[in-house]
Amino acid sequence: MSERGIQVGVIGAGAMGRGIAQVAASAGHSVVLADANAGMVEQARTAIQAALRRDVEKKRRTPAEADVLLARIVDAGPVDTGYQAFRGCGLVIEAVVERLDVKQALFSALENVVAPDAVLATNTSSLSVAAIAGACTNPGRVVGIHFFNPAPVMPLVEIVPAIVTDPSVAERTASLISGWGKTTVRATDTPGFIVNRVARPFYGESLRQLEEGIADVATIDWAMRELGGFRMGPFELMDFIGNDVNYAVTRSVFESMFNDPRYTPALTQQRLVESGLYGRKRERGYYDYRQGSQAPEPTKDETLGRAVLDRTLAMLINEAVDAVHRRVASPADIELAMTRGVNYPRGLLAWGDEIGPATVLGRLEALQDEYGEDRYRPSPLLRRRVRDRRPLLS
Ligand SMILES: NC(=O)c1ccc[n+]([C@@H]2O[C@H](COP(=O)([O-])OP(=O)(O)OC[C@H]3O[C@@H](n4cnc5c(N)ncnc54)[C@H](O)[C@@H]3O)[C@@H](O)[C@H]2O)c1
Repeated sequence: MSERGIQVGVIGAGAMGRGIAQVAASAGHSVVLADANAGMVEQARTAIQAALRRDVEKKRRTPAEADVLLARIVDAGPVDTGYQAFRGCGLVIEAVVERLDVKQALFSALENVVAPDAVLATNTSSLSVAAIAGACTNPGRVVGIHFFNPAPVMPLVEIVPAIVTDPSVAERTASLISGWGKTTVRATDTPGFIVNRVARPFYGESLRQLEEGIADVATIDWAMRELGGFRMGPFELMDFIGNDVNYAVTRSVFESMFNDPRYTPALTQQRLVESGLYGRKRERGYYDYRQGSQAPEPTKDETLGRAVLDRTLAMLINEAVDAVHRRVASPADIELAMTRGVNYPRGLLAWGDEIGPATVLGRLEALQDEYGEDRYRPSPLLRRRVRDRRPLLS
């Protein structure tokens, strides 16, 4: 798969699949795209065409380049008759519905069609790559390639080998995807990989502070944005992502972590989802997006804002340190993932060093003392770093 000229298969032409197809075609590959729903591939091609038109308008590519790129993406035809259209692919990436049984059935059918050295990749956000690979006779060639939405825009890709993945498959995959102009990081096959795990407190701790009445939605968003330098506040970001999607990720990480209280979902978020208040796509979430509605004003109290920021930041830094401790990824990859995958203003480990590891530890110990909850337990590695007077980013 080192050769750049391989044909790439993409199965699932929804939000992610169409973006991945566009990225692969932009890198010069011919792409076979399939979807179980008739008409989805055509819809995807129309959406890609519109994106390319915008590129042309912005002079990022010429009209001729856009035509060539679009012509590289071909419709595989109906998948219910099998996956024969993928037999020439050196890499097939699935981006179908997030269901283990569907992904397992797809991979076990696909592996009989493709060449023995073809790589089978999953774009799953929350399932175990091992569980998907486990359905295959040759699980060594199965790997996670986790793109972010929208795939053509977001630079980060998490490469996730399962314990059964052949190490050379993970290496070849990472080098191929880097060649597509993406920043790749390596994550272990653990719930949420890097980004969806380390980012949990950004939402969870903000929700806790909201539920306790420490500050309202607008004030928490203001504090994280204006004082913390985050591009969006947690509530506006949840409304943007979709509260249904964000809640599903939180639940999945919590349950896959055997109900570790650090990841406990918030009832407030559950109620929003139950009420259909998904955020922007439903015009209501934490904020009201309907015409004529007034955005609430934050209380621009700097002392309150700092307290909100410090608490959430201590939890985020602890989560990043614990990800190092549990070998989810290297410290450098965790920094890259959070700055490039979710646009954090700084890497969390470097940020913790700037604040001072002892200060961060002190904040967590104070929270744990006050609440008596395991949720606030400091990572053993944070304690060790403070004891040894070593930086978090080392
Ligand atoms: N949306 C995101 O932000 C995001 C980010 C990273 C990863 N992911 C992951 O990517 C995958 C796809 O997510 P999405 O947001 O694009 O979903 P989506 O619902 O937009 O698209 C999924 C597509 O898969 C098709 N499909 C379902 N079963 C199929 C099958 N057996 N064969 C072929 N096609 C089938 C559906 O018709 C649909 O068009 C999921 O595993 C998801 O967890 C999503």
